[in-house]
Amino acid sequence: MIDISRRNALILGGVGIGGVAIGGTGFVVNLQSGRPQTSEGSLGVALVQPTELRSSNGVLTVALESSSQQVSIAGRDVRALSYNGGVPGPTLRVRAGDILNVSLRNGLTDPSNLHVHGLHVSPENNSDNMFVTVDAGDSFDYRYELPTNHPPGVYWYHPHHHGLVADQVFGGLYGAIIVEDAEEIPATRERVLVISDMTFDSSGTISAATEMEKMSGREGELVLVNGQLVPDLSASPGERERWRVINACTSRYLRLRLDGQQLTLLGIDSGRFESARDVDEVVLAPGNRADLLVTARAGTSTLRALRYDRGASGGMMGGGTTSSADVVLATFAVAGADTDEFTAVPDQLAPRDLRSAAVTARRELVFAMGMGGGMGGSMMSATINDRTFDATHVDTTVQFGSVEEWTLTNTSTLDHPLHLHVWPMQIIEQDRQSVESAIWQDVVNIPARSMVRVRIAFDDFSGRTVYHCHILDHEDAGMMGIITAR
Ligand code: C2O
Ligand code: CU
Ligand code: CU
Repeated sequence: MIDISRRNALILGGVGIGGVAIGGTGFVVNLQSGRPQTSEGSLGVALVQPTELRSSNGVLTVALESSSQQVSIAGRDVRALSYNGGVPGPTLRVRAGDILNVSLRNGLTDPSNLHVHGLHVSPENNSDNMFVTVDAGDSFDYRYELPTNHPPGVYWYHPHHHGLVADQVFGGLYGAIIVEDAEEIPATRERVLVISDMTFDSSGTISAATEMEKMSGREGELVLVNGQLVPDLSASPGERERWRVINACTSRYLRLRLDGQQLTLLGIDSGRFESARDVDEVVLAPGNRADLLVTARAGTSTLRALRYDRGASGGMMGGGTTSSADVVLATFAVAGADTDEFTAVPDQLAPRDLRSAAVTARRELVFAMGMGGGMGGSMMSATINDRTFDATHVDTTVQFGSVEEWTLTNTSTLDHPLHLHVWPMQIIEQDRQSVESAIWQDVVNIPARSMVRVRIAFDDFSGRTVYHCHILDHEDAGMMGIITAR
């Protein structure tokens, strides 16, 4: 049980309402053991993989039903939202050139829809169309055609009905999509790690976010891996595991470490590095994914999300800070006989590099937050170029086939992770420095009071879609714009 009375006692106990009411409290209490999620050690629960659905003969046909129902999360029966009864929903495994058919039935009491985050597919008709609404009780058949040169990697799906995205994702609606490698990378086993955060009240229902929490972006008290609290993973020394890590949190940044083990990063989002990189930590903004190889070394390690400072909102009125405490996510126990060493990771195709491309247009997007005058009497305004989302207004028109350079300026005191649908972004400049290699992502963090420059090739698909802050409370508040490529 979540010890609500203890939590309330802590809030009243002079820690400061502002610091405690918003974001990570540092007092996250483990449902199973009653101890904080910051302390180490196994709880004796093995990591479970979501159900897997795999394409065959170039097609994967899936029925997804969203509903509010009883599910087991963090070892406890609670009421949450789920696809096909699972948090996360099933993992969809496809290949470049495949057709993915998803028949979505909306079993919620609110409107919803489906977005395939990061897939390079058409934004029109019944493909990845943000403007489709599936009313409560209705169904819609999506059909996604992946180009034959679609990049391999880790993607995900979640609802995208404006105004309800944060509630529906926080409630439990998400799942992994894997686009397989053209040429397999040898590994002993593969795991999908969908990391999400949730808060339940004492009756086991998802807690609603306060206006204050929405301002900085809600962070759940429990940080889960595949809906589990601090699950155990085990391996033998020398084994190589492929970890597909998704940050499905509504607003929480994940600064991931697995000390004592060797981490090799193949890429973030759909971006692939030409050669794999050994790393100590990986920072994932909400919506980002990491494609990792873990080479097991004897000993027990802890997968941790370290404190990440993403700024503070609403300084004047004592709004929240957003630097969560360190959180323990999983244990990784490596013991037994040594297994054979693996061969080196094969180099991947050199990523495209737009640094030498001819830029046909430049534009600036300014991300700002203010108090008052916001949506529907809310105390927050979150804008891009002084506007909030208007479904009838195209904010940005680009020429199909062109390469643009965008300057992303953040005037606020909070980080904003910008996500663009359909076309990935190459990061050209950050921290006032040019980037040394070709880095492609579909979610690019713009740190507080900072600037990032990206280049985008509007290739392969024309049509209308959106870009937005992937702190989903900000997106719902209107930090989203419409883009048309034609
Ligand atoms: Cu992950 Cu527009 O979303
Ligand atoms: Cu997306
Ligand atoms: Cu934001």
